Amino acid sequence: MTKSNSSLTIREVCLEDAALLMQWWNDPEIMGHVGLPAGLGLSLADVQKSIRKGKSGESQPPSSMLFMVLLGTEKRPIGELNYSGWDPVRSTVAVGIKICEIGSRRCGHGRAALGEFLKLLQSRLGVSTVTLDVLARNIPAWRLYEELGFRLVRRRRDAYHCAETDELLDVLDYCLDVDG
Ligand SMILES: CC(C)(COP(=O)(O)OP(=O)(O)OC[C@H]1O[C@@H](n2cnc3c(N)ncnc32)[C@H](O)[C@@H]1OP(=O)(O)O)[C@@H](O)C(=O)NCCC(=O)NCCS
Repeated sequence: MTKSNSSLTIREVCLEDAALLMQWWNDPEIMGHVGLPAGLGLSLADVQKSIRKGKSGESQPPSSMLFMVLLGTEKRPIGELNYSGWDPVRSTVAVGIKICEIGSRRCGHGRAALGEFLKLLQSRLGVSTVTLDVLARNIPAWRLYEELGFRLVRRRRDAYHCAETDELLDVLDYCLDVDG
């Protein structure tokens, strides 16, 4: 499952990506945006396990999967995309995105990658509704989602407890109908 536009490629993760994903998922800067300011503290084996769990190859795609975002002809990894909770009956799925290489943020890559990913999910999973949640304070992320047409469904006050800082944070639920 690979998809590319002129400068970005999206492909499924493989075990060779584990070390980089571990670095990203343990990084306080990256994970702070999703409410995990200490990072995830994962081992290489933990990450390899997550990758194995979400591999395609069965008769139908798994309910959750991870993808890498690669930049340029040299295909340098700059971030990751994921889907989870795919429900083939209700035709819904949740998505997430991180542009992890800080120098590659605010260059339009997040918009391009998520736009391509939505097309990929529609063709591969046949989903009609895509959902996501985001911390209200993560302004770059929800602005990106709104630009791509996601509609704010609700604001859940104090819905996320950040264990590291003992803060209660508001969460925004978004939804996009992709078959209309
Ligand atoms: C959110 C994120 C994916 C955006 O990716 P990006 O490649 O930097 O975003 P783009 O350059 O494609 O920007 C698209 C739009 O998003 C919004 N945006 C992105 N960065 C922004 C910022 N720092 N401040 C305000 N708006 C921002 C803008 O509306 C922007 O459009 P514009 O540049 O025409 O104003 C990226 O910042 C990121 O990965 N952050 C850390 C992890 C994270 O928060 N993931 C989302 C979890 S819900």
